[in-house]
Amino acid sequence: MAEAKRILLEGGAVAFPTETVYGLGADARSDAAVENIYRIKGRPQDNPLIVHVHLNFDLNSLVYDDKPYAKVLRQTFLPGPLTLVYRSKGRVSSRVSCGLDTLAVRVPSHPGAQEFLRYVNLPIAAPSANISKHVSPVSAEHVYFDLNGKIPLILDGGASSGGIESTVCDVTGEYPVILRQGLVSREMIEKAVGRCEVYVPKEGEQVRSPGMKYKHYAPKCKTRLFDDPKAAVAAFEEEKKQGGRVYILCESKYATLFPSEYVLDLGTTPEDMAARLYSLLRQGEKVADIILAVRPQETGGVMAGVLNRMNKACAGE
Ligand code: TXA
Ligand code: MG
Repeated sequence: MAEAKRILLEGGAVAFPTETVYGLGADARSDAAVENIYRIKGRPQDNPLIVHVHLNFDLNSLVYDDKPYAKVLRQTFLPGPLTLVYRSKGRVSSRVSCGLDTLAVRVPSHPGAQEFLRYVNLPIAAPSANISKHVSPVSAEHVYFDLNGKIPLILDGGASSGGIESTVCDVTGEYPVILRQGLVSREMIEKAVGRCEVYVPKEGEQVRSPGMKYKHYAPKCKTRLFDDPKAAVAAFEEEKKQGGRVYILCESKYATLFPSEYVLDLGTTPEDMAARLYSLLRQGEKVADIILAVRPQETGGVMAGVLNRMNKACAGE
């Protein structure tokens, strides 16, 4: 912790665990420290970062917290995998929000993350600790694989239990609008505050969450996504015939359609699938020329976030 704090105060970056994915943190007040993060990741310059703080951090020092429903969301879901986008007071580096007048703030629930954030007592700008566009890391080992030699320290807090990135929710308007789906679902937010919409960019409109426009979360091998398990079986057999190293990513109920040694099994519940997805993609890319993914059947709740990540990992096919 002491070493992490020293590195951060010198403008460096440190990887730390959260309950969603590992973060690559830097002092959000420093232009140079924040720029360093973009450089390490190879991240597009127009994709803003989330500021991470501990539970007792004074939010009013960073943002205008003027919506009563936002308070309810905080009380209901924080600490936890929900990022809230507020109007910014401009107290952190302008590089954090890439010129937007808003600031995304997150209070992670992982005990190691809380301990780290309390210890350094700084607003920490942190994207996921992967090379830009690769699958997000859910263990210290994943961070090491992507960033070995590029950062001086990884705080190892074990496997991230949630497995997909936080829900990003805009709280500047009349009602909450989800910009990125995640483990806090639209249904959960509706239950807490009555109304919640999921943002869908309109044709030609500038997207409100710039991260949405990039290909993301992709493994290094080829991928294909199937709606129909039977079509995946046919494609599997065809790939095998060609001598390709082919693996299947699917929920447990389809696993029996394939030889078990080639199955990356997502499990049965949406929470299982969120927790396993990125590990399985990272495991798969090491051994496969191609991963054939079968889209799970369920769609609502937490599954919306899982499907969003599966679509992005298999973008284009
Ligand atoms: O679970 C998470 O959120 C993880 C862990 C490390 O906390 N972090 C994470 O950060 O996923 P990143 O940088 O990979 O994704 C941040 C997302 C992007 O889609 C970005 O566009 C959006 O949040 N975002 C950040 N600031 C924003 C803002 N002011 N307005 C709208 N969207 C914003
Ligand atoms: Mg990311």
